[in-house]
Amino acid sequence: MKPTIEAFFDTVTQTISYVIFDEAGGYCAIIDPVLDYDPKASKTFTHIADKIIAFIQDHRLSVQWILETHAHADHLSSADYLRNQLGGKIGIGQNIPAVQKTFKKIFNFGDEFIPDGHHFDHLFADGESFQIGKITAKTIAVSGHTPADIAYQINDVIFVGDTLFMPDVGTARADFPGGDARHLFKSIQKILAFPPETRLFMCHDYPPTNRPTEWECTVAEQRAHNIHVHDGITEDEFVKMRNARDATLGMPNLLLPSIQTNIRSGKLPPVESNGVSYFKIPINLI
Ligand SMILES: [Fe+2]
Repeated sequence: MKPTIEAFFDTVTQTISYVIFDEAGGYCAIIDPVLDYDPKASKTFTHIADKIIAFIQDHRLSVQWILETHAHADHLSSADYLRNQLGGKIGIGQNIPAVQKTFKKIFNFGDEFIPDGHHFDHLFADGESFQIGKITAKTIAVSGHTPADIAYQINDVIFVGDTLFMPDVGTARADFPGGDARHLFKSIQKILAFPPETRLFMCHDYPPTNRPTEWECTVAEQRAHNIHVHDGITEDEFVKMRNARDATLGMPNLLLPSIQTNIRSGKLPPVESNGVSYFKIPINLI
């Protein structure tokens, strides 16, 4: 069965969230949903999540899955909010405890934060199959950007997460704690080994000034034109380029609040005795 895909673009973080479903009145999965966050006021909003909810209600869909490609460092996830509103199970890659352990240390979380992945409803193994209604989906482990990244393949479609960007933008960075440019190259090769007509859906777009925002391209287009990994570029060339480029990049604006939320599946930190939730901001550490 051919799935239907609806994209929701967040202009602030340049993230694309998706709803994929089998048929109106059937089942859907939500992929990488964004929670709006204003860092100046430290205030969350649900504008994008509520658009997703309205779309799902308009199409009379039941949410089976809320899928994260990884613990994002550039936006907060609305997975927990959406699960509370619509139901469904939150899934992420099975290596998420490695990311949780790394950031537990960085944020000096206490014993109450157990880095075993239990914050999520399901941890996907590499190559695991699952159903979204009548559609069969499969995971592809694509570590490199983080150790726990996974992509989701559904028929001739792959949601690539933070691996590839549009061909004129290149690839995701690999310098976050636990990231590895060599792993990223190998993971990208797994995606590029799919048939040339395979449709790839990006997690982000940072378009150059000469084109509008886009989020879909094919394996063939990536192999021919991706500025970082087109056919002919060797692993060593890629690693050298990626590491040199990453050394010039600043940290994402929302890194610290995003990670603290997203390794808890989109839940904000536990409220303190006054009923308020706080983010921790380490100084001179990252
Ligand atoms: Fe990311």
